[in-house]
Amino acid sequence: MKILVIGSGGREHAIAFKISKNPSVHKIFCAPGNGCTALENKCENIKESSIDDLLNFAKDNLIDLTIVGPEVPLTEGIVDVFKENNLKIFGPGKKAAMLEGSKAYSKEFMKKYNVKTAEYEVFEDKEKAITYLEKSEYPIVIKADGLAAGKGVVICEDFKEAKDVVEDFMVNDRFNGAGKKIVIEEFLEGPEASILSITDGETIIPFISSKDHKQIYDGNLGPNTGGMGAIAPNPYCTKEVLKEFDENILKPTLKGIKSENLDFKGIIFFGIMITKKGPYLLEYNARMGDPETQVVLPLMKTDFLELILESLKGNLKNSTVEWKDGYSTCVVAASKGYPKSYDKGFNIEIPKPLEGVFGAGVKEEKGILKTNGGRVLCTQALGKSLKESIDAAYGKMKKIDFQGIYYRKDIGKIS
Ligand code: AMP
Ligand code: GLY
Repeated sequence: MKILVIGSGGREHAIAFKISKNPSVHKIFCAPGNGCTALENKCENIKESSIDDLLNFAKDNLIDLTIVGPEVPLTEGIVDVFKENNLKIFGPGKKAAMLEGSKAYSKEFMKKYNVKTAEYEVFEDKEKAITYLEKSEYPIVIKADGLAAGKGVVICEDFKEAKDVVEDFMVNDRFNGAGKKIVIEEFLEGPEASILSITDGETIIPFISSKDHKQIYDGNLGPNTGGMGAIAPNPYCTKEVLKEFDENILKPTLKGIKSENLDFKGIIFFGIMITKKGPYLLEYNARMGDPETQVVLPLMKTDFLELILESLKGNLKNSTVEWKDGYSTCVVAASKGYPKSYDKGFNIEIPKPLEGVFGAGVKEEKGILKTNGGRVLCTQALGKSLKESIDAAYGKMKKIDFQGIYYRKDIGKIS
């Protein structure tokens, strides 16, 4: 098989690495990939990026399957375009991708199908939003409706802060249209979990749970990033929590997908918060998580590519997903200054082979890897215990160096 993987992050490197293990795969094109996928077995990076160019590439190169990593091409409708051209592609159609692409749509969907989630109101009128906020209890959460690269959610401590956020999102239009409509939501508290799942629109099979570490500094301090590390399974996802998740979140979501006739053969990722009143759904993502993918896929015993093909056939009801025992940890190394401004272009010292190192903001020049982004790479390792996997992931990280390397020292530390 010839496979096209769309995206450039650690997530896409982990996907390409996992499917490269299937003997029927002889070539994986990564669009655009990164410096590490350039060196990965069976992989080749390509430059095509627009949907039209990717479509032409897939046709010209007789691609057997396309896997979409990031949310933007999904919400732009890449799956619909490929399907219209009789090309096999794994991911939700444009309408189903709105479960991630529009918070207002997803909250309405959750309410309609009784998915357990925070109370909310949607506003398109600034004055109405401010009148509502005057009477609200604090803290309160304000969310931009559209995609905002993980920066569209603000927890407001008081009315003044909330008013400023409304101004910033709706009037100053900080997110180029994505914040013209906002969701104002009840504040919840508790540890968070990521539950990536595969669906064919008829069945949803949850993957092993995982936990992201979003803030830049140890102790979950500082601004949010794209994710500084992850562990799997998530220690807060007890049997009881997972049972409630299944009853109050997963099953009603599946009912909604079926009832709305959504074309969803892809990954549905539930971002949940485990409150004193049980798990609540914070958000859906219509794709795999980054860096969750980098810890979840190495624990998967089942052949991921076979699973994707079963999903595309609509055959998940007859599938099971098996997991290795033990734990997985990944630690992300970032460029000094990230998530604000940072320099790039520094040589990366990295042990060979690359196994357990997933590249992200990395480029390759004549076999030398150089930093090329905020989150540069991550090291991932398995262990019989959580501690063993943490120690092994940090052990790999200690062998890597570049100017200004920064990583959290407390990934996996559970309070
Ligand atoms: P979302 O994109 O909706 O997952 O929100 C991003 C982050 O904001 C989540 O991972 C939570 O840390 C936080 N968050 C979102 N919704 C709430 C809420 N209702 N209460 C408290 N924190 C929230
Ligand atoms: N790690 C969170 C996400 O991928 O959205």
